[in-house]
Amino acid sequence: MDKHFVWLDCDTGTDDAAAILCANGLPELEIVGISAVAGNVELEKTYRNALRLNRLMGTDYPVYQGAEKPWRKELETGYRYHGENGLGGVELPLPERYPEVTEKAWDALYRAAVRYEGALELIATGPLTNVATALVKYPDLKKYLARIVIMGGSAGAGNRTPAAEYNIYADPDAASAVFQAGIPLVMCGLDVTMKAYFMEEDLLAVKAGGTTVGRLFHDSLQAPLQTQHGTGVKLHDVVAVMYAARPDMFDGKMAGVRVETRGGCTNGKTVTDLYSDKKFPDKNVFVVLDIDHARFVREVSELLLSYRDLE
Ligand code: BDR
Ligand code: CA
Repeated sequence: MDKHFVWLDCDTGTDDAAAILCANGLPELEIVGISAVAGNVELEKTYRNALRLNRLMGTDYPVYQGAEKPWRKELETGYRYHGENGLGGVELPLPERYPEVTEKAWDALYRAAVRYEGALELIATGPLTNVATALVKYPDLKKYLARIVIMGGSAGAGNRTPAAEYNIYADPDAASAVFQAGIPLVMCGLDVTMKAYFMEEDLLAVKAGGTTVGRLFHDSLQAPLQTQHGTGVKLHDVVAVMYAARPDMFDGKMAGVRVETRGGCTNGKTVTDLYSDKKFPDKNVFVVLDIDHARFVREVSELLLSYRDLE
């Protein structure tokens, strides 16, 4: 089995939390570090939520704080779906002790990428502010990152606006810098993540395992479940993690992709030439389009059910 050394950059977040739990459980992945970015909730909360997951999983992955706000916009959070604490109101304790890390996310990411000599992969499930900041501060970072698997964007419609998906809309300038960086990119956008749904009974089956992980998964996802009118809750961020480990569960195509940074009603749209007659000069992104849904539900459920309460 190929082992992937991964760095998780998250705005934890209900589905980010599920993604971290899956990444930790997947034997194909080894987590090197976690960085927090502002997005679904403020940085202070996304940082502490990652620490809370460390405690829940019995791990001590280093967690770093990154950007408090997007490059040029104000932060627009996602309280409606993720609740004020980012975990849908589910309370998880912080670790009893954790180091007060002062190194910034972009510095730590660069240091790790150099240490892994080009083998490190980045999985980004929040706005791309930290990633873009790292690329600007360290222009040679691009040669040290094997690839970036992004949850973000859409070749079709949006979810934060009719045109734009939330992670790209939240910081389009940063996203544009990342999409133009020349690093191998995988875009797990709404094209595939809208097909990565868990129905209420799937959530309940994980909760029936009787663990804190099961309760967190089910209870934290109730708000997004209710807004989806019976079509199930979409585990957007989990898709990026599962793709990084098990790409044979998915299908996609290379395409030219650019990010709209100046549009009025199209700001934050990932303009993709998959379906257009006129193409961009280069195909810079692998766009994931399809998923084996039954396998996704089965394997994500197994990963979550494999946790046991530690205390
Ligand atoms: C993305 O936006 C956030 O609400 C989720 O955590 C996910 O990363 C989906 O558009
Ligand atoms: Ca997220």
